[in-house]
Parts: sequence; structure tokens; C-alpha cells
Amino acid sequence: MPSSTDVLLKIDALSAEIGGRGILHDVGVEVAPSDWLAIVGGSGAGKSTLLRLIMGLRRPAHPTAGEIRFDGMRWTSTERVHTRPKGISFVPQSPAHGFDPLRRLRWQLGQLVRRIGGESQEHEALLQTLALPDPQRLYPHEWSRGMQQRLLLAMALMSDPKLLILDEPTSALDPLIAAQVLQQVQHNAAAKGIAVVMVTHDLALAATYATQIAIMDRGRIVEAGPSDVVLNTPRTDYARELVAHQYWHTARVDTFAADQ
Ligand SMILES: Nc1ncnc2c1ncn2[C@@H]1O[C@H](COP(=O)(O)OP(=O)(O)O)[C@@H](O)[C@H]1O
Ligand SMILES: [Mg+2]
Repeated sequence: MPSSTDVLLKIDALSAEIGGRGILHDVGVEVAPSDWLAIVGGSGAGKSTLLRLIMGLRRPAHPTAGEIRFDGMRWTSTERVHTRPKGISFVPQSPAHGFDPLRRLRWQLGQLVRRIGGESQEHEALLQTLALPDPQRLYPHEWSRGMQQRLLLAMALMSDPKLLILDEPTSALDPLIAAQVLQQVQHNAAAKGIAVVMVTHDLALAATYATQIAIMDRGRIVEAGPSDVVLNTPRTDYARELVAHQYWHTARVDTFAADQ
């Protein structure tokens, strides 16, 4: 784990519930500016809930204990007024949640570009590296989920966030495209110094891209640390089972071969 001076995001003893039911229990996470943290776990483990709380969204789950620090700011579970943190880009699990269905894609892209400024050539180059055409006059539903997801990723990267949060970023993509897209994200994140928190149930993706892995089960982080340590020497039964049953070894060998 990074030293405390070097931490961009720090979550301490965070618990949360929905309608009196505990959803997160005593969750702790640390992310340094150069980290790529993968949060891995089964469906319903609380991964999306954790991301929503980092984003400052307190519904449907609200925090009952703990605190979140991000980039020098601090939020506790007891604060009634809550401001959304700045410097975070979020790509939701379902692309439908990222776009206004009634506005043309180009308008939505234009709004973002007007807000953030920057070189239009740079923005266009980013769309091209993600193999996206000009959306022209199309509405979100007229693009495939995969294209919508890639456009959301491109828009998230354009904003130059300090932290990029990805919820199942490749769920709508076929495996080859998924690898290309995540390579582009990795390239951009490294070039711009963006830290990444990625939720996935795919250990192969985590093994390939993440520097840190946290394994979540039923609202708790049951294991966390540098990716190679978690993957090679899982300590808990749940982590051991996950590692034993997932076909991540091939992806890892490929990555290592490519690095040498
Ligand atoms: N809107 C909601 N109302 C009630 N329960 C919810 C709601 N959203 C999520 N939950 C519950 O919270 C738990 C964690 O969900 P979620 O964070 O979406 O898990 P994950 O992303 O790991 O699949 C699950 O048990 C889920 O049923
Ligand atoms: Mg989820």
C-alpha cells in the first residue's frame, strides 16, 4: 500500500446501508496517483455501491460510518450536506445511465468539450483511437451499447480527471475490442497521470491492467494488495476460490511476454 503522503483516495472504515440493510461493512481502500485498482467480486458484492459513494452519490445507499478522503478533501458519514468531489470521471456500468436519451450524441459531446475546453484535434484523436466515428445526428439508442460505452470512456478521458472510475468498463464490448480499449485507457492514464479504479468480475482483466487488486465479498473487502501478491498468494478462502476458478493465467503470461 502507498504511504499516506502519496494517497489520492483513501476510504476508511466505510459502512453503508439501503433501507436499514447493511450493504458495505468496514471498507478500507487506498489509491495512489499512479495506481490502477481493480475491485473484483461477484454480483451483489457492493462494488457499484462503493463506486457511487466515492462519486458522492448517497442514494440508494447512504453511509452509516467511516470517511472518504480524495485529493485533500474529506467527507464523513455524518455530514448532511454533501458536495460532489471534483476531479473524478465516472463511466457507469450501463451506458444508458451515462447519456441523456433525448439529446443527440454530438450535442452531449459538444457540451462536455465546451465545459472543459482543450484542443479539438486532441479530442478527435481520442475518438479515433477508440475506433469511434463522428456521432453526427444520432441519438444514444442509435449506437450499439459497445459504441456508447467507448464514447463514455473517451469523454471521461477528455476531462483529464485525477481519478477515473470505471464500473465494468468492458461489459458491452467483445473481448478483442475490450483489450484494445483498455490499452488506450492505460496509455492515456499513464500519459496524463490519471489513477484508475475499475470494478470488474473478470480477474483476467484485473491481472492484466491493475497494479492493486481488492477482492470484495458480501459488502466487505476480504483481501487487498499488489496484484501479483493477491493473485499468486491469495490468503482467504474466497480469494483462493476466485483465483482457482478464473482463467486469468493466459492473460498474465501474455502481458509478461509483451513487457519483455
Ligand atoms: N436500488 C436498490 N435498492 C435496494 N437494494 C439495492 C439497490 N441497489 C443495490 N442494492 C443491493 O445492494 C447490494 C450491492 O449491490 P451493488 O453495489 O450493485 O453490487 P455489485 O455492483 O457488486 O453487483 C445488492 O445486494 C443489491 O441487491
Ligand atoms: Mg455493479
